Amino acid sequence: MASKIRSSEITPESVFRERRLILQAAGLGLGASASTLLPSEAMAKTPLTGDIAKWPDSTDEMQTSYEQATTYNNFYELGTAKGDPVKNADKLITEPWTVEVGGQCEKGGKFALEDILKPHALEERIYRLRCVEAWSMVIPWVGFPLADLLKRFEPNSRAKYVEFKTLYDPVQLPGQKFPVLQWPYSEGLRIDEAMHPLTLMAVGLYGKTLPNQSGAPLRLVVPWKYGFKSIKSIVSINFVELQPQTSWNISAPREYGFYSNVNPRVSHPRWSQAKERRLDGGSKGFSALFSDKRKTEMFNGYADEVASLYTDLDLKKNF
Ligand code: MTE
Repeated sequence: MASKIRSSEITPESVFRERRLILQAAGLGLGASASTLLPSEAMAKTPLTGDIAKWPDSTDEMQTSYEQATTYNNFYELGTAKGDPVKNADKLITEPWTVEVGGQCEKGGKFALEDILKPHALEERIYRLRCVEAWSMVIPWVGFPLADLLKRFEPNSRAKYVEFKTLYDPVQLPGQKFPVLQWPYSEGLRIDEAMHPLTLMAVGLYGKTLPNQSGAPLRLVVPWKYGFKSIKSIVSINFVELQPQTSWNISAPREYGFYSNVNPRVSHPRWSQAKERRLDGGSKGFSALFSDKRKTEMFNGYADEVASLYTDLDLKKNF
């Protein structure tokens, strides 16, 4: 179990040094030389090395290119246009990084990122991620099951939901100066969704650490839900009894429900969810918006794995 650290005990220098050692040991070494990198790669930091197991159930569909996955982003704290997050990515400082865990659990506390990561073996999982805006990508994520992390905090029987929050710091995340959403960005999952083996705590993509625009250093990937449930740059995990409020639901409750399961049969009030545009290696940037549409699958194609979570739920009411 990770040791508890008070924020007063964290000094950037000692944390830097310690983290460097731990991340090197875990194959997450730091220190890419930015000068020779393309803009989208500038924040990619470094390749992940070491033993990264390949998840056997990865999709073999054509992958989105690294360039596209890291330059066409939604990260409203770094700007609302798709190209803004990569441009503003260097404002976000991810070292040192602390995650606060609390609520209905026995072993909460403040944890340095390295203590969060240390016990977990990394895995590469190629998942589809479908945005509520009706585009989708296929990305090789690197991470570990969220359940393995949550169990370490020993949630109690009153923990019915898990609430996540992104860093709040309008200097590092200048989009927070504007009231586009309620900040900090908040998301939530039912405890069984959070504990589902498909739910991934991601630390990297395409064999590299997460670039900031993709949610460094820690983000969720929940492949059967619309992309906005996959919260980026997480600093808070809270076990709660009641369904938590979420940023998108607060901003437009008729448009973005708590569940947000990918569902071609339930339209968004302003557009259909029956089809999607796949952004893959074949088409880039703006031209990708005009690439062929494909049918959206129930639960984004993960129905065999997750449909049983919702057998008693009216998915039209609980959209
Ligand atoms: N997390 C934070 N903190 N802020 C955001 O604006 N956007 C969400 C989600 N996570 C968002 C976020 C949305 S709408 C989507 S579609 C995905 O991130 C996009 O992830 P990607 O940029 O890696 O494709």
